[in-house]
Amino acid sequence: MKKVVVLTGAGISAESGIKTFRDSGGLWEEVDINEVATPEGWKKNPARVLEFYNLRRKQVLDAKPNAGHLALAELENVFDVQVITQNIDNLHERAGSKKVLHLHGEVTKSRSSLDPGLIYEIEGWQLDIGDKCSKGSQLRPHIVWFGELVPNMELAYRMASEADIFIVVGTSLNVHPAAGLVHYAPEQALKFFVDPNPAGVEGIQHLELIQEKAGKGLPTLVRKLLSESH
Ligand code: APR
Repeated sequence: MKKVVVLTGAGISAESGIKTFRDSGGLWEEVDINEVATPEGWKKNPARVLEFYNLRRKQVLDAKPNAGHLALAELENVFDVQVITQNIDNLHERAGSKKVLHLHGEVTKSRSSLDPGLIYEIEGWQLDIGDKCSKGSQLRPHIVWFGELVPNMELAYRMASEADIFIVVGTSLNVHPAAGLVHYAPEQALKFFVDPNPAGVEGIQHLELIQEKAGKGLPTLVRKLLSESH
């Protein structure tokens, strides 16, 4: 089975009503990254950080996968598909994708602030001060904050290096090391870039640009890949 690796960013969830970060009106225009998405912010005011992720978790639980997520899940009928996402939502899983690697964490999970190996599913949308791990320490969002290590990069690099087809959708390729992943795809791999306002694609060989929103561009691309696979 041919291997398809898909690197996704906030843009794939935009049509599900979840804000991106750097588009106009994006999330980082409304909040101070340092206050809500750094270890320093967590130390200074954990309640503020928990409130920020509670609101995002509520939005994710109220959102639904869109045609872009569903198209990637459909691709699994014919290809070995590995999604590598920068997104913390669970829309890929809810669309039916079976292999999803989260690089920046998962908003539906919490983890011990003492022992990073202790990870829990959050029931409902709230994680609050006083919610503790089995060792008695305050639970934090299971999110990779700015300045923290991205734990799954070695695995992601290996996956990218095995791709026959590499799709990038809905990311401004602003944040490393995730953004560098596309350069680990084999030279001869087919590469597709789905984004209505593409940026950061200069210098990538054999790249086909699909200047569309994910909800339209991905179903079209998936139909093409499925028809060519027979
Ligand atoms: N369909 C496809 N792409 C879209 C759509 C859409 N409907 N709407 C916007 N986009 C594109 C934008 O053109 C942009 O290139 O999605 C991209 C969103 O870029 P960012 O907001 O920077 O999101 P992302 O690349 O995922 O950010 C990476 O930065 O803040 C951190 O950890 C956070 O994972 C995030 C990382």
